[in-house]
Amino acid sequence: LLASFGNGVLAGLNVLISAGPTYEDIDPVRFIGNRSSGRMGFAAAAAAAAAGATVTLVAGPVSLATPSGITRRIDVRSAAQMHAAVLEAAAQADIYIGAAAVGDYRPQDVSATKLKKHDGASLTLRLSENPDILASLSAQIAHPFLVGFAAETHDVASYAQGKLQHKGLDMIAANQVGSGLGFEAADNALTLYWADGAVELPRAAKPELARQLIAHVAERYRATRR
Ligand code: CTP
Ligand code: CA
Repeated sequence: LLASFGNGVLAGLNVLISAGPTYEDIDPVRFIGNRSSGRMGFAAAAAAAAAGATVTLVAGPVSLATPSGITRRIDVRSAAQMHAAVLEAAAQADIYIGAAAVGDYRPQDVSATKLKKHDGASLTLRLSENPDILASLSAQIAHPFLVGFAAETHDVASYAQGKLQHKGLDMIAANQVGSGLGFEAADNALTLYWADGAVELPRAAKPELARQLIAHVAERYRATRR
């Protein structure tokens, strides 16, 4: 499988990838964010480009340079902006890889001015749920091949397989967070699940793991969209 990687396994295909966190503003100086460096998603984008794909990268707030070979990068901040950018670009995409750590909630009211603290009183933020990008795509009649990620602290396999099913995904890449893997770390380890199979990608540097992920995505894509 990996031997064929260099030979343009994704040539002629449009691959859309979201990466990084989203920031949900509370006021002009504060936000709620997710822990994500964007490195796994950027590595997947680089690997997809190296495999011959035309790659569009939708990036949340990250401090990463655009990998070479990426055709288009769209920078966004909030989950709502990422949702809009991904849905717009998905119309042309053959494959969508949702590597972003999308904020599940946003403050219901964003203060136009900096909130001030008040003598030890507690502060309650009221939050609204953000739209689910993968679920929105999956609900469309014609949609790209959908790959999700699931970063879990516990019961990784059952949560990941549950998300594969209820979000209507073609594949999900699951990882255990903690123990020097995952967030902000150089290495990661993934287990890929699809409807009738699974494969473990053992601990490796994110660029190497991304190449393996892309090789499996290409293989599953070909198997389902013949
Ligand atoms: N995701 C998405 N839109 C959201 C939230 C998540 O598209 N609003 C995508 C992520 O990009 C990822 C997958 O869904 O590919 C799983 O994200 P995760 O946060 O693990 O799942 P949730 O469904 O949000 O469930 P929970 O956070 O409660 O575990
Ligand atoms: Ca979530």
